[in-house]
Amino acid sequence: MAVKIALDNVYPFISEAKIKEYGARLERAQNMLEQGDGPGGEFTGWLRLPGEYDKMEFTRIKDAAAKIQKQSEALIVIGIGGSYLGARSAIEFLCSPNYNLIKKNTPDVFFAGNNLSGAYLNEIIELIGDRDFSINVISKSGTTTEPAVAFRVWKELAEKKYGLAGAKERIYATTDKSRGALKKLADMEGYECFVIPDDIGGRYSVLTPVGLLPIAVAGIDIGACMDGAAAAMNELKARRWDNPAWRYAAARNALYDTGKTTEIFAAYEPSARFIAEWWKQLFGESEGKEGKGIYPASVDFTADLHSMGQYIQEGRRNIFETVLSIARPCCDITLVNDPDDLDGLNFLAGKTLSHINRQAFLGTILAHADGGVPSIIAEIPEINEREYGYLVYFFELACGLSGYILGVNPFDQPGVEAYKKNMFALLGKPGYEKEREDLSKRLNNI
Ligand code: PA5
Repeated sequence: MAVKIALDNVYPFISEAKIKEYGARLERAQNMLEQGDGPGGEFTGWLRLPGEYDKMEFTRIKDAAAKIQKQSEALIVIGIGGSYLGARSAIEFLCSPNYNLIKKNTPDVFFAGNNLSGAYLNEIIELIGDRDFSINVISKSGTTTEPAVAFRVWKELAEKKYGLAGAKERIYATTDKSRGALKKLADMEGYECFVIPDDIGGRYSVLTPVGLLPIAVAGIDIGACMDGAAAAMNELKARRWDNPAWRYAAARNALYDTGKTTEIFAAYEPSARFIAEWWKQLFGESEGKEGKGIYPASVDFTADLHSMGQYIQEGRRNIFETVLSIARPCCDITLVNDPDDLDGLNFLAGKTLSHINRQAFLGTILAHADGGVPSIIAEIPEINEREYGYLVYFFELACGLSGYILGVNPFDQPGVEAYKKNMFALLGKPGYEKEREDLSKRLNNI
């Protein structure tokens, strides 16, 4: 198994026997996922995706990535939520959190349409300057405001710079096969389109064209990512306690049921920061409904040991951690001996940074256990494409299982609509007149 789940630092809080009591519910949850007869069962296509993805489209993705690499110095990826976080997690994890700054022979990748800040958009425009760029606009619904607004800006810039015909050669739309404003626009303008399968929701879509095109543009081997996911698909079917998805789903639900309502995802590699962001969206949107759900938070260690560390050690005791551990980190540095030893660090001479980082990790796990914080350790062997694909599939499956154990539909997100309705009303969108009036009255009191 490429992901190992260690529960040694959970057992002081909940016994193994107690966690195993979730076996029957896991079995039912796995059956519902596989048979597609649970709540939201029509959105479980990600479960079979690594074995069933469209190979012709996969080749088109690789061809488009090669064309973008040849034509452009930068790719603007426009999308939000599930249409953004996966690609960013892969590029930061597999290439670098400083991807745009490192020396490379692939285009820079800028993410836009994931907020409504004019300052942010203007900065990207300035950073691109007169460099050649391509655009990948991604939206499953094709109607989301943030990416639609950003795309209007970038489409105009592309058309001004390259003309209508030239822009068409540089704009790629990833969206529904037939529905939504983006699909209509893309067809009218003649953009190359990639399809987000009907049965895969946004936060489960990183291994569809949503994530694969930007990831491939960054030079990452997307075939290896899919191979890793396929290995996970085959291995994680096992209805056994050594199945890491079962262990993880059971342990986090058992902790939740004893009042641990916040799960903190921690990693000791800064490149995993967007794995954490992707994970937060996956679990937060899937489980947080009907007044239920574990609140997913994240920290970057060791940096956040100097900020959130205090709270984790001694704050409200409703938290547990899930720590991502990389067994063999790459690119090490060894500390040298300094004859003067003015910094008093000669006791570390000859030690690698990974060794020092590992001791920080082990020491923190024990300190947090002493402070009443259980830790689940998720270990992967190393950082590479295969392990990334495996990890993504592992978390998606664990999330589907957890959602069903919790008793919610892990594949919808009804709560996301509330802010949109108010925003449209305040912006004066036709059809929202009554809401606008009501909201204006409430805002007058502020
Ligand atoms: O997981 C989800 O479904 C959401 O986070 C969506 O990905 C997000 O709201 C963006 O939606 P869309 O791709 O339709 O623009």
